[in-house]
Amino acid sequence: MATGGTDIQPASGSLGVLLPGLGAVSTTFIAGVLLVRRGLGTPIGSLTQLGTIRLGKRTDNRAPAVRDFVPLAELGDLQFCAWDIFPDNAYESARRAGVVEPELLEQIRDELEAITPHRGVFDSRFIRNLDGKHRKSGKSKRELSEQVIADIEGFRDASGVTRMVMVWCGSTEAFQNPSAVHQSMEAFEAGLDADDPDISPSMIYAYAALKLGIPFANGAPNLTVDVPAMVELANRNSVPICGKDFKTGQTLMKTIIAPGLKARLLGLDGWFSTNILGNRDGEVLDDPDSFKTKEESKLSVLDVILRADLNPELYKDYVHKVSIHYYPPRGDNKEGWDNIDVKGWLGYPMQIKVNFLCRDSILAAPLVLDLALLLDLAQRSNMRGIQEWLSFYFKSPQTAPGLYPEHDLFIQLMKLKNTLRHLRGEDLITHLGLEYYD
Ligand SMILES: NC(=O)c1ccc[n+]([C@@H]2O[C@H](COP(=O)([O-])OP(=O)(O)OC[C@H]3O[C@@H](n4cnc5c(N)ncnc54)[C@H](O)[C@@H]3O)[C@@H](O)[C@H]2O)c1
Repeated sequence: MATGGTDIQPASGSLGVLLPGLGAVSTTFIAGVLLVRRGLGTPIGSLTQLGTIRLGKRTDNRAPAVRDFVPLAELGDLQFCAWDIFPDNAYESARRAGVVEPELLEQIRDELEAITPHRGVFDSRFIRNLDGKHRKSGKSKRELSEQVIADIEGFRDASGVTRMVMVWCGSTEAFQNPSAVHQSMEAFEAGLDADDPDISPSMIYAYAALKLGIPFANGAPNLTVDVPAMVELANRNSVPICGKDFKTGQTLMKTIIAPGLKARLLGLDGWFSTNILGNRDGEVLDDPDSFKTKEESKLSVLDVILRADLNPELYKDYVHKVSIHYYPPRGDNKEGWDNIDVKGWLGYPMQIKVNFLCRDSILAAPLVLDLALLLDLAQRSNMRGIQEWLSFYFKSPQTAPGLYPEHDLFIQLMKLKNTLRHLRGEDLITHLGLEYYD
């Protein structure tokens, strides 16, 4: 059923990508964009750059590139602004992260060196294993939020960007449950004045962005915009938001394999996942409170895909364990092991072993790019509040209250592409296909 389509403002002018956290993921993303612009790399893993979208019937043979189908910012139109609690510029930080090889970084060195981070808003109660001193100071959290707003306005004026989006690429903050200060914008703003201890640094950046009408995506599992106060502000200011926690590595594999097991009605007795990684992210996650935030995010995916309530004979009481070990020699090259105890016909047990030698930031960088471009598209399409169609990119998708998130990667992809079809007034694809046999 075709809809009328939506008026989408053109992507004219340039787009500022605001990045709290200038670490491995941010610098791999920025370096990748700069290299692709110069024809020195291919944007593998990015749906906005390499994806196609089928339109109409299979016999129509219409499958344009996503970027030709919806108006997206061009890579050449992106500009970058960052914050970090370490003063290293993007070149130094990329060298430290050790993801993109030095020979490639040399070719874009000048552009990377020009990206220096603003001082970060930091509170060691939320991230215990880092002690960077490149921080802001202020009398209250309100004042810190005003400093972030001033940074953003300064960047906008100096760079001449016409639109901006913010993607949190900072470290994972300690686990927190929503509290009273997160329940309404009135309570949150009073909390900024009163220095409420439950307002985390990531919330201060997000608040600054939403106040200025800038879309926000959360690449880490912290609460940040996943609280009623921020949803209220996003809706009030007509700003799109989404999160949480980039879906890469082991969880990506999990949400590819689990829908297959479920589709064939194979049972599950247990899923044991362990990882080693040695980057700064791994160092932060070595703190039990930051790990708890990550663990919650990683554990949630199987329950929703398998739905033990609907098939208790297959999925009741399966054991799901996830651990991450900080192991410096591996740097960003994470290794994950999964042992999956499945059962088939008459309950006979079988095992699947997965050993994924991945590169964390290489998997995350294209997600930052897609989220920046698609959030900008959402805003130009007058979409506001929680963008569930971007669940495809997240381990813990943010949804409307009371709605369980879709974790199945293939449902998420269908939802994303149908949203694009809807925006352009094309028929949604249901895969019914009876018309081919009429
Ligand atoms: N790489 C992946 O595959 C992946 C997947 C999912 C989520 N993530 C999340 O993305 C985030 C970034 O990952 P990374 O590998 O780049 O980590 P990283 O440690 O290399 O970079 C994070 C940067 O954030 C900075 N930082 C911390 N608190 C800050 C603050 N309050 N303000 C400004 N800067 C701050 C740190 O100094 C660091 O430079 C982490 O939260 C990670 O858990 C990464």
